[in-house]
Amino acid sequence: MIRDRFSDNIKKYLSEDEWIVVEDGYNSLENLNYETIFAMASGKMGLRATHPEGWVKKTLPANYMHGVFDRSEAFQRELCNLPNFNILKIYYKTEPISVEYGAKTEDYIRVLDLKNGILAKHYINESYDGRKTLVETLQFLSRKHPNSGLLKYFITPLNYSGKMEFENIIDGSVTNFYDFPRFRVKHMNIKEVGKFSNNGIYINSETRDFKLQVTTSSKVKIIDKKTQFQIKSHGEYAIEFFDCDFVENETLIIEKYSCVRNGNETDNTKLSSEKELEEIYVAGFENELEEHIMIYNEMWEMADIKIKGDPESEKAVKFEIFHLMSTPNPESSMTNIGAKMIHGEEYGGHAFWDTELFILPYFIWTFPKIAKNLVEYRYNLLDGARRNARKYGYKGARFPWESADTGDEECPDWTIEGDGTCYECVVAKQEIHVTSAVVYGGYQYYKVTEDKDYFYNKFLEILAETSRYFIDRLEYSKEKDCYELTNVMGPDEWHENVSNNVYTNYIVKWHLNLANELLMNHMTNEIVKNMLNKINMSYEEVINFKKISEKIYLPLDDKIIEQFDGYFNLKDIEIYQWDKNNMPLLPKELKEIPREQTTINKQADVVMVMFLFPENFSEEVQRKNFDFYEKRTLQRSSLSPSIFSIVGNRVGSGDRAYDYF
Ligand code: BGC
Repeated sequence: MIRDRFSDNIKKYLSEDEWIVVEDGYNSLENLNYETIFAMASGKMGLRATHPEGWVKKTLPANYMHGVFDRSEAFQRELCNLPNFNILKIYYKTEPISVEYGAKTEDYIRVLDLKNGILAKHYINESYDGRKTLVETLQFLSRKHPNSGLLKYFITPLNYSGKMEFENIIDGSVTNFYDFPRFRVKHMNIKEVGKFSNNGIYINSETRDFKLQVTTSSKVKIIDKKTQFQIKSHGEYAIEFFDCDFVENETLIIEKYSCVRNGNETDNTKLSSEKELEEIYVAGFENELEEHIMIYNEMWEMADIKIKGDPESEKAVKFEIFHLMSTPNPESSMTNIGAKMIHGEEYGGHAFWDTELFILPYFIWTFPKIAKNLVEYRYNLLDGARRNARKYGYKGARFPWESADTGDEECPDWTIEGDGTCYECVVAKQEIHVTSAVVYGGYQYYKVTEDKDYFYNKFLEILAETSRYFIDRLEYSKEKDCYELTNVMGPDEWHENVSNNVYTNYIVKWHLNLANELLMNHMTNEIVKNMLNKINMSYEEVINFKKISEKIYLPLDDKIIEQFDGYFNLKDIEIYQWDKNNMPLLPKELKEIPREQTTINKQADVVMVMFLFPENFSEEVQRKNFDFYEKRTLQRSSLSPSIFSIVGNRVGSGDRAYDYF
């Protein structure tokens, strides 16, 4: 058992091997990877798994909270990296003790226990002068108090006695893009660095544009030892210094409690942070941990998946579920799930179509209350979608490609590459299919849960306003006597400015048809009548949804479906090399020919239509299209292999489906 590599202090909290993800042996070059893999989320916040002892060269400390965004000099509003509370430094005679300090680190193991939601570590650090120290840490973001993080040290000096020194730190100097000078932005202004009357330290900070308050607080408990705390704060660092005597082979036990509150949750972040900190401090580490484990175990009762005969896949799926179910805020329909969840700042923490088509289905079936929050989030930001439609000169409501806390488009029209070159980014302008994804997701939610409150009071208004947008956005072609969508981008982001992307036309046609059907069926309902009155939508307008939907250009037949107008005229290139995981490699022709001039795709597009609407295509057509597009799709978005896996499985390409899975 993996847990046998820990002392009894930690072992008792760890689950069986099937639940344990391991980092075996320390390699500083892999540290950033493991900080990500072992990141934790509590529903309120996320914390990268940095080593709290510090003194690590390559590290990206990060604590994000749902709903705490800021723009300042960044090119979009992004999740703010908040003051880092995950630091508790250890010294012996000024020499740090940590994984990367000293002569060597042996016996290193760090594990993420998926069942209990805890992170544990064990290593023996040897100093340059031969002192050996066994360090064990146990850590979690509490599900009981999701604004709080708890950390416990078990430190055993193996061949020396003396006085150990510690620094409990909250570091307010952190930035976003900490490792990327070109993009580095400091989003939090530090307003106050203080200490509580009853020990403990805090930092009050605020976002620079909307002045949203955040308090990060922390307090330390030393078990069975006496000490004095001295405040050593300076600049943007809150620091509490303390020391304690120890003798060889005796284990020092130190607990660190931290709490973060933000102004979206409470009017007085300082007071409520201090109050919660005191509460968990008094309750104690063990009690908090037991309740935390109980809550995780309850969640797993809903969520666990067994895959008979394939333990590796089972653990991988458990790992995905762990991060997925740990992320969303169960208490808010004003926050969503970012493309990198709450674990990283890439994509600014923004919600994309990823939410409705790739994440929501999981929650609809497993945690419908979370699904409700996610679909209501879109309703709560419907005014933003209205503004967004106006911004592009259209009526109705158009959801942003990237959404944060205001509902406005967060995806910039210009972006800067790593080397400083700028390019025009048309995805926000052209990936209008996100608006139909919102409707698709909302409707799936309703069909499964039959949540009538959502359906009548929220969904139908979204449906009506977004349909109005598409009616305005569609263009009539006299020549073809049909409606077209030009200058769009389908899910495949390697072909921009295209016309009649089949995915977009298909889902918009479905969308308008649904709007007509549902609004007609429920028109006599008082709530619906009032809503239509409120938004000034006439009976004729609703009838028109169907008329126009029937005339949307969609050249389907029983052969290969052309991804967009002119796709078949592009230089046809097939993938001919795969990596060790059987994932496609870039054909070398693409080094010479720009990819938009070829048939090579970034991600599922036509196959995405088959995935969403399988009942409308024969198995034969699905197979032909799977085979054709599979040979031309590089799977360069993590949204793609899952779709090829599901559709591949349906059409009998089991081996490829398994590779993609
Ligand atoms: C993909 C999009 C996706 C976004 C966020 C992009 O690379 O092409 O489809 O929504 O990442 O995951």
